[in-house]
Amino acid sequence: MTITILGISGSPHRHGNTETLLDSFLDGARVAGASVEKVVLTDLNYAPCRGCNACHKTGNCIVKDEAPGLYDRILAADCVAVASPIYSMGITAQLKGFIDRAQYLWARKFILKTLDFSPDHIKKHKGVFISTAGQNQTNVFDSAFPAITALFHGTGFDYSDNIVANNMDKYNGIKNHPTALQEAYEKGQQIVRELEKIKST
Ligand SMILES: Cc1cc2nc3c(=O)[nH]c(=O)nc-3n(C[C@H](O)[C@H](O)[C@H](O)COP(=O)(O)O)c2cc1C
Repeated sequence: MTITILGISGSPHRHGNTETLLDSFLDGARVAGASVEKVVLTDLNYAPCRGCNACHKTGNCIVKDEAPGLYDRILAADCVAVASPIYSMGITAQLKGFIDRAQYLWARKFILKTLDFSPDHIKKHKGVFISTAGQNQTNVFDSAFPAITALFHGTGFDYSDNIVANNMDKYNGIKNHPTALQEAYEKGQQIVRELEKIKST
């Protein structure tokens, strides 16, 4: 059984601190035998949610762009690692705009009742949040967690871990951080082993 891992980079800065940390996690997962793909949100064509509520009636989004296709890929993955730097004490506009587009899944679950994730499904699907921040406060990531929770709950994933590195201003970049890249790599390996075990039971 091959575990599938989807990395989503929500940083507009290509190959910056956050995407590099995500890459380390994905490298670890690949070495552990997973099938790994990465999507960079700035490469995708999608608009933020219009709030038209058409999905409340149909369960589908009327905006025809690349967001629903990425949700299909999320729903098909065993593990999703979503990454964003902290911008103005939250996640980036690119990631928040994408998360809001899951409203049609919310409508299927709570209005139309055509979508349900069983406890067994959620146990077998793991979500990981990866982030970096400039400041040194340990609570700098706190305001990002609720939107990530919304994403993982809406798509049937067990929000299983945060891989975060603060104080980037002091380190002058993730590559100079003493432990973060290795930790992310090991967590990538570890999650594949965990999922293999859970899915074999
Ligand atoms: C627009 C903007 C807003 C930011 N806001 C914060 C912030 O509120 N708190 C913080 O700790 N760092 C903040 N930062 C710093 C970034 O979180 C940090 O440099 C991060 O490592 C950048 O990741 P990246 O290389 O993937 O873009 C901000 C950076 C930018 C560009």
